[in-house]
Amino acid sequence: MCLKTNKIITYGTFDLFHIGHLRLLQRVKNLGQYLTVAISTDEFNAVKGKKTLIPYEQRREIVENIKCVDQVIPETCWEQKENDIKTLNIDIFAMGNDWEGKFDFLRDHCEVLYLPRTDDISST
Ligand code: CTP
Repeated sequence: MCLKTNKIITYGTFDLFHIGHLRLLQRVKNLGQYLTVAISTDEFNAVKGKKTLIPYEQRREIVENIKCVDQVIPETCWEQKENDIKTLNIDIFAMGNDWEGKFDFLRDHCEVLYLPRTDDISST
């Protein structure tokens, strides 16, 4: 019997939370036991040239209260992923497949997976 706890992390903005976001989080959680979601702060989105309709604190509160989510942390810069994976002992890094290939460099630290997106729904 395997008693290992798989810890998973995913990153995103989750503006105007919708069914595509929910399904992605559920698919990601199905990979293991403990799901951390890193949510882009308003300041980081400004760096990315993105402006959300819903402010960070509310996006955090919504995602934190989704049943399959165990922990939310802020995403404040591009470079933090490697450090998050190490400090949180992450086993699997998972993103929607719109990011396919973009984070393969993290494979030195954990498993990297890209999961299917839900068609025909987007906040942007
Ligand atoms: N996502 C998904 N299906 C969608 C929309 C988003 O699976 N129809 C996933 C993305 O792939 C990402 C996560 O939800 O892994 C969070 O998405 P987010 O960072 O908020 O940005 P977008 O992908 O731009 O979401 P949206 O298209 O709704 O703006």
